[in-house]
Parts: sequence; structure tokens; C-alpha cells
Amino acid sequence: MTVWAVLAAAGSGERLGLDRPKAFANLRVRPLLAEPLERLDASGWVDAIVVAVPAGWEEPAILLAEEVGAGKVVAAVTGGATRADSVRAAVEEVPDDAAIILVHDAARPLVDDAVIERVLRPLAEGWHGAVPALPMADTVKRIRGTEVVETVDRSDLVAAQTPQAFLADVLRTALGGDVAGATDCASLVEAADGRVAVVPGDRRLVKVTEPDDLELVASMLAG
Ligand code: CTP
Ligand code: MG
Repeated sequence: MTVWAVLAAAGSGERLGLDRPKAFANLRVRPLLAEPLERLDASGWVDAIVVAVPAGWEEPAILLAEEVGAGKVVAAVTGGATRADSVRAAVEEVPDDAAIILVHDAARPLVDDAVIERVLRPLAEGWHGAVPALPMADTVKRIRGTEVVETVDRSDLVAAQTPQAFLADVLRTALGGDVAGATDCASLVEAADGRVAVVPGDRRLVKVTEPDDLELVASMLAG
């Protein structure tokens, strides 16, 4: 079965507040994007990679892929206004004979083979998709403005990460619907009545969102 990886790297990184997109922020001595590119390329599960980057960053992304020896990268496409738009643009480059699409956030640089294997396995067992997730560590509150409305039972809540794996046709169909506001691809598949499995996530898959997250991931890289 052919597995294509789609790497969503087209965000602007507003919250990082740098002079360049998040994917090209420095993570130790390299642009952040180098890390997930290299890791997906090294995965024995991944056959080919399409990366979505902000307009104007397509060529730097291809050069970076060459630099890190990521020979599985077949295209760097221009992303869209939202994450789902960017994923859709990348999926358009995936050939029809691809069986599985693995969608990953470039903002989670420390992806590895173990989690890829965990999300792929349910697809062989009849699931339409699979997501890695972690239990909620903190107490979860519903709020209205500055007031707490209630404390939510967290026993059946998890925090979803990427990489997320999908049967290619199921993901394509889900991306064809209303994607406004979707923060991950699984939510689109769920909304289309797809069956999505949950597998253990990985604490190293922390998402670089705020400036100090870059230092956190850099320290994990060192360790
Ligand atoms: N993403 C994307 N296209 C968009 C928006 C987001 O490909 N239009 C990607 C980001 O590059 C990132 C992932 O989706 O890898 C998760 O998004 P997020 O962490 O919100 O990144 P940004 O949107 O870049 O950050 P911010 O919201 O602070 O601007
Ligand atoms: Mg964003």
C-alpha cells in the first residue's frame, strides 16, 4: 500500500511573531521544516512527501529538502488561507493510486516511525482514519469571558496530535466539504461520519506555537 505524507507548513506563525513563517524559524541551527522533512523521509512507512508552504517559499522548501537529502519530496505547493486549504492543495498533488495519506503538522517537528506505525495500523483493520492523542493533564473548565461556567469531566477527553492517517479517498471526500474552522483533518472525516481510531500520542510531538516552544523542542532534540 502506498503511503503519501502531506506536510502542512503553510502557516504564517503569527504567535511566534518572527520575520518569517514558522516553518523557516530557527530550530537550533536549521530551519524548523528541516526536522520533519528529514524524519518523514527517513520513515520506512512513507513513500512520498508533498509539502505545503506559504506563497513565495516553495523554492526555499525544495532547496531545503535537497539539502537534507529528503529525496521523497515530490512537490512544494502553495498553501491556502487555512490549514485545511493548505492540506487540500497538497492532497491535489497526491496521485489517485495512493492508498493512504498521512497528514502532519510541520509545527510538530519530532515525528518518528513509532507513531507513524501506530496511526497506520488501524487502517488495515477497517478504520477510515487514526489520530495520536494524549490524555488531558490539566483540569478542564468551560468558560464564558472571564468566568468559569463549569468543570468538564476529562475522563473521556484527549488532546489530538499529528501525524494523522487516512484512507486517501475518505480524506479527499472530507476535504471536499465545508472545511471552515477545522483545526485538524480528523474532524472533517468525523463530520462526514468516518470512523476514526485513537492511538497513543507522543509527548515529543509538542506543537511549536509560542516563542518558548522553540526552545522546548530544541532541548528535546538535544536529549
Ligand atoms: N498551517 C498551514 N496552512 C495554514 C495554516 C496553518 O499549513 N494556512 C499549518 C502550519 O504550518 C502548522 C499547522 O498547520 O504546521 C498548525 O498550525 P499552527 O500551529 O496554527 O501554525 P500557524 O498558523 O503558522 O501559527 P499561528 O496560528 O500562530 O499563525
Ligand atoms: Mg494557525
